[in-house]
Order: sequence, then structure tokens, then C-alpha cells
Amino acid sequence: MAIEAWLMDESNEDPRLPHRRNPNKSVSLDQLAEFGVLYWKLNPTIYENDEELAKIREDRGYNYMDLLDLCPEKVENYEQKLKNFYTEHIHQDEEIRYCLEGSGYFDVRDKDDRWIRILIKAGDLIILPAGIYHRFTLDPSNYVKLMRLFKGEPVWTAYNRPQEDNPARKEYIKGLTEKFGVPLATH
Ligand code: LAC
Ligand code: NI
Repeated sequence: MAIEAWLMDESNEDPRLPHRRNPNKSVSLDQLAEFGVLYWKLNPTIYENDEELAKIREDRGYNYMDLLDLCPEKVENYEQKLKNFYTEHIHQDEEIRYCLEGSGYFDVRDKDDRWIRILIKAGDLIILPAGIYHRFTLDPSNYVKLMRLFKGEPVWTAYNRPQEDNPARKEYIKGLTEKFGVPLATH
């Protein structure tokens, strides 16, 4: 199965719920690619020896790697971290996450500034481009193990919205505009 993504509903209920619309409005891989989100399906049981993963890392220069086990026992300031992950933000670099176990949701803003929810589960590798507004939450299973990849020395700094003057944001908008010839709605 390919990735599963959908347009979120507007309700303020628990973020860990799916928040699908009724009827569901699914978002395809092609649509995600249109605003810069990339996806690979890999075999998570062989991640230590996976040639496909090695190739992606080599092609894209991801020499840094670590593993993040998101559970209260293994993460300092667990609650605060989760809160920060779910606060809408951007980074100056790509956010690359490969799900090895468990599941969770990456929410990204589409070109019309609507939230798209992306379900990630074991085997899903996603790349969010620098400058895209996004956030992350666990789902009711409350557990995920993620591989984090990075090019060079990792920088995890999050810049909370609004960031319209942030160079990474400007670059992202510029890329979108050049690609589609339509300016994004201004915020
Ligand atoms: C983040 C976590 C999920 O950076 O790695 O949002
Ligand atoms: Ni982030």
C-alpha cells in the first residue's frame, strides 16, 4: 500500500484521532509531490542493511542518522516535546523521517493552506521540504520509532509560524510559485 493522506476536518477534538472529513477526501502521492513532500516505501525489518535506503541516503547526501523512540521512558521532557512537535513550524532544512515501528501523523499545509494529514507507519519514509509548515502527533497507539536522517551536522531548530520572512520559507514559496506560476495565498 502506498502512503495514506487526507484533507483534515476542522474539529478541535483530540489531535491523535484521524480527523478525516466525511466523506473522506484522500490526497495522492502526486498531490503531495506538488508541494514538495516525497515518499518511499521500504522494508523496515532490514533497515540496518537496506540497499534501497543506502541509495537514497547516498543520492541525497544524508550522512547523519539517528533513531528516536517516542515513548515517555526514553525521551526527556516527553510531554513538552510532543507539544512542540504539534506546534505549527518550519525548519531551515528538510525533515526526513523513516518510520521503523508504530505509527503517527505528519500534518502539512497544502498550497491553499489547508492541513493535509499523512499517516506514517512502519516502512514509510517521508521528506518534508525546508520551509513547509508542518507538525507531528502520535496516534492512539502512542508509539513510534523513527529514523532521522540529515545532511551534515543535524539542526532540529523549529521556527513557529508565522515565518514569512524566514529565508527557508521564502525559498519554499519561490519554488512553488516558479513551479506552478500561481502565488500562494498570503498569510
Ligand atoms: C519531529 C519528530 C517527529 O521532528 O521527529 O517532528
Ligand atoms: Ni518539524
